[in-house]
Amino acid sequence: MTERAPATEPQVGAKQPSDQQQAVEDALVARVVASFDHTADPRLRKVMQSLARHLHAFIRDVRLTEAEWNSAIAFLTECGNITDDKRQEFILLSDVLGASMQTVAVNNQAYANATEATVFGPFFVDDAPRVPLGGDIAGGAPGEPCWFEGTVTDTAGNPIAGARIEVWEADEAGLYDVQYPDGRIAGRAHLYTDRNGTYKFWGLTPTPYPIPHDGPVGRLLTATGRSPMRASHLHFMVTAENLRTLITHIFVAGDELLANDSVFGVKDSLVKQFAPQPSGTPAPDARPLGERTWSRVRFDIVLAPAGT
Ligand code: BEZ
Ligand code: FE
Repeated sequence: MTERAPATEPQVGAKQPSDQQQAVEDALVARVVASFDHTADPRLRKVMQSLARHLHAFIRDVRLTEAEWNSAIAFLTECGNITDDKRQEFILLSDVLGASMQTVAVNNQAYANATEATVFGPFFVDDAPRVPLGGDIAGGAPGEPCWFEGTVTDTAGNPIAGARIEVWEADEAGLYDVQYPDGRIAGRAHLYTDRNGTYKFWGLTPTPYPIPHDGPVGRLLTATGRSPMRASHLHFMVTAENLRTLITHIFVAGDELLANDSVFGVKDSLVKQFAPQPSGTPAPDARPLGERTWSRVRFDIVLAPAGT
């Protein structure tokens, strides 16, 4: 004889609720939605009423049990408890749910040939040091040297002089400098395009790394059979007057993680060839690299007009 599931377990294949039950649930949704009718700010009214409709639809769709509701509250409480000025578990949760990328998509509408945006991530730091064109952003972080170069233009192809380019990346051990115990700055910098809109700098060949997964979001990934790994990438944020600010990454062609990035950040247009350079290949700026291998990549950045 099969055991009856306890009342709090989800009823797999459960029947549709009766008409009488649906009427009770519909009436509650209507009352909650109406409770926001007098919100003075019309945008807040729209957001809260839509949230109420979707949240209730979700609860009804999965027939949420009280035990699951309790687990969800405990989970969110844990997210709050682990969050501080260095760790933001709610953003991480948004990232692994694809909510961050959906918000990026909604707010960075496709525009002509403009470069696509992707997720910001938690590791940006304001006021990273400035490097000159051709400078090294690695700051002593371990990894294989990589030469990055390209242009910044508008969608008509006009070069953008003086565009500010912020770049940041993890070292070969998968750590950002903010995760180092000694507070030193490495793997990040800003620079400006020259009068032809070109830029170039040394960094590190990107390598894969896991998002922080020692907290509740990590447990959620494990429970759902998902990996915390991010595809190898380097972050860019590009700002220029009268043009839309671009927050993006470039990814490494051939990386096995491209199809399974834990935060859904990969876009085909952002996958670039990082050409491996055998030991002894002269560097573009004659930098002495001894016996080291290095790589090089080109990334031409196209900015959409501001307000698009
Ligand atoms: C990152 O690429 O730095 C990142 C993005 C989302 C979550 C964690 C890390
Ligand atoms: Fe990153």
